[in-house]
Amino acid sequence: MSLGHGQPGRHPGMCHPRRSSGQQILRNIAIQIENLRLAAWRIRIHWIPGYMGVPGNETFGSSSKARSKHIRACRSSHSDFRLPQLDAQHNVLSKVTENILIHPSIPTEGVLSVADVGTGTGIWLKDVSKVLEKTNTNSYYHGFDISADQFPENPGNFKFSVQDITLPFPKEHWNRYDVVHVRLLVAALEETDYRTAISNLSAILKPGGFLQWEEIDEEAYISADNPVIQEIRRCFDFSLKAEGKCFAASAKVYEECKKAGLVDVVRLHYLSSANSDLRLETEKRLASIIETLYASLLLRSGQVADEEAASKRAGELIEQHWSLCAEGKSPHLKLMRVVARKPLDGLDL
Ligand SMILES: C[S@@+](CC[C@H](N)C(=O)[O-])C[C@H]1O[C@@H](n2cnc3c(N)ncnc32)[C@H](O)[C@@H]1O
Repeated sequence: MSLGHGQPGRHPGMCHPRRSSGQQILRNIAIQIENLRLAAWRIRIHWIPGYMGVPGNETFGSSSKARSKHIRACRSSHSDFRLPQLDAQHNVLSKVTENILIHPSIPTEGVLSVADVGTGTGIWLKDVSKVLEKTNTNSYYHGFDISADQFPENPGNFKFSVQDITLPFPKEHWNRYDVVHVRLLVAALEETDYRTAISNLSAILKPGGFLQWEEIDEEAYISADNPVIQEIRRCFDFSLKAEGKCFAASAKVYEECKKAGLVDVVRLHYLSSANSDLRLETEKRLASIIETLYASLLLRSGQVADEEAASKRAGELIEQHWSLCAEGKSPHLKLMRVVARKPLDGLDL
């Protein structure tokens, strides 16, 4: 297969390919390549610079190397989290919700099919299956993610596919799922993506099926007397806005669910302070968020010159965080959860 495109260095969109024509093509190609890799195809990519041997164009090509520095700094959101961290984070979030992974307003007895979108390692799906197995032995579980990087090597009976939440799902998934779950896409989605995402998720829900979307967003970082929380909030607000993203993610999901015609839409929150045993784990989670997402956002939004400067700023903030914790100013973790139902007579999508 051979593809033609301009110099990679010319297009910052190559690290976040989105909807404008060429970028959309790249995004689809990336997804198809991941799907072929999942099907055990070996893919090799050769880039042959179109300007090779043409002096004027070669000069242009070398200046594009400077731009590629910017591209390297421009990391996709899924690389902000490493595998053990996602699983550690899941354990804390489960405890914050007192291990109620599916909200009690969702009747679990009749749940035969569950989808987790932006699944990462599939850890939520795995734990939910343990809960549901008690009543439904043959339920179907499918994890979707824009990248296969973190999919488990041995998925067992679980299915995993590469799928961008902002693109329509293949028809075989339409009207298929009793429960669709999404968690922690705040740093990945642009504000305008939420409407499309809700519409795509509604399409894969069975009529009468439930959507549950969880975020640690703007509301998690409100603390009048903690300068570390204030700095994280400032940085996230600045960086996400600069990328056209939405820090008030759960409020946005709530609003878009209502607009889409989903019913029984509620927005709830869970606080780690309800469980005093969670104090140390919450403190460690925040240190980890500073080390990964905070540092990454500093760099992505150009607030620091390079990775070293980002790590240094993050390290200083982590130190301040631990000093405050030692003074008894331990932060709380707030998880936002939106639950909504697709009407039994379906939706006009
Ligand atoms: C912070 S992780 C959360 C993973 C998982 N939901 C959890 O809570 O453990 C965000 C995940 O969303 C995925 N992601 C980012 N953008 C996406 C998109 N447009 N469509 C689907 N998945 C996406 C990333 O690859 C990553 O695995």
